[in-house]
Amino acid sequence: SLSNKELIEKINEYKKKLSVTIVAHFYQRDEVFEMGDITGDSLELAMRTKADDAEFVVFCGVGFMGQSVKVLSPNKRVVMPKVACCAMASMIDALQYDNTVKALNDAGIPNENILPITYINSDAGVKAKVGEMGGMVCTSSNAKKIITTALEEGKKILFVPDRCLGQNIANQMGLKSCVVGDGTDLNEADIICFDGFCSVHQLFTVEDIEFYREKYPGILIAVHPECDPAICDKADFVGSTSQLIKYITELDPEQKVAVGTEFNMVNRLRPKNTYVLSSTKPECPTMNETTLKDLYDVLKAIDEGEPLNEIHVDESTQKWAKIALERMLEL
Ligand code: 13P
Ligand code: SF4
Repeated sequence: SLSNKELIEKINEYKKKLSVTIVAHFYQRDEVFEMGDITGDSLELAMRTKADDAEFVVFCGVGFMGQSVKVLSPNKRVVMPKVACCAMASMIDALQYDNTVKALNDAGIPNENILPITYINSDAGVKAKVGEMGGMVCTSSNAKKIITTALEEGKKILFVPDRCLGQNIANQMGLKSCVVGDGTDLNEADIICFDGFCSVHQLFTVEDIEFYREKYPGILIAVHPECDPAICDKADFVGSTSQLIKYITELDPEQKVAVGTEFNMVNRLRPKNTYVLSSTKPECPTMNETTLKDLYDVLKAIDEGEPLNEIHVDESTQKWAKIALERMLEL
């Protein structure tokens, strides 16, 4: 078997030889991340990959991200070294989405009064349903802006799949939110959330924040909005991946900060005074599935004319999911 050094050399040879762009999310393993031609958070990756013109996009990330590239640019060939499904995205499919809409209808809220928004961490089938109902996609970078625009239509927002992101934005904007099935009368909420969550970002607790504040008085706490509202309420800064990077890298080098987001990213952020907020390592298992060897294997397969793990989306899903994604990009 090849060493990492040999794999890197071979990957670089394929990069020169083939019409490929390697795309890597910030949560990827360091050695994979370093191979990326385009790196970023989910919004940056969606936008920059759309503008890229290589024949093949080799997407190192989780399934919904590769799928979003294919939806936005159906003529590109998208392959993934590992088609790993984000735990949150797998919490809702098109059928569960329909059942959730029905729960709103049963509470006396007709479809005309519902504006659905899906976090980009969702399957193309869910994005298509949302697009068909006049709704759109958001990411953690633009969720507040998208929700502000949506509220101008005077409708109730159905937010899927992440209850934390939905509730955190509602709290930030002084709006009332609830989670379907939590016993609240759905008519009383401005933002009605589906009960999905990210298992990695649930690892951070209020006790972790108290521990660090006691140990290092003056430490700042910075977290991703996929963390529970109880955590976000107590944090000094809440932001998407790119917003966290900007906030933390611009801090005084002597300022201590404890960060509540995925380990691989936190680990390469800043040489010192940067701590992982939880006591257990917050690694995203699916993001970590992609290895250098997987990346090498898909490039080799492209070179041999038999691409592996190619992403396909059926025509009607593609059409409506694209509309939902483009409504976001237009804003
Ligand atoms: P970003 O939109 O911040 O890249 O987040 C993606 C993600 O999966 C966070 O867990
Ligand atoms: Fe999905 Fe959470 Fe992993 Fe992000 S960190 S890809 S939301 S499981």
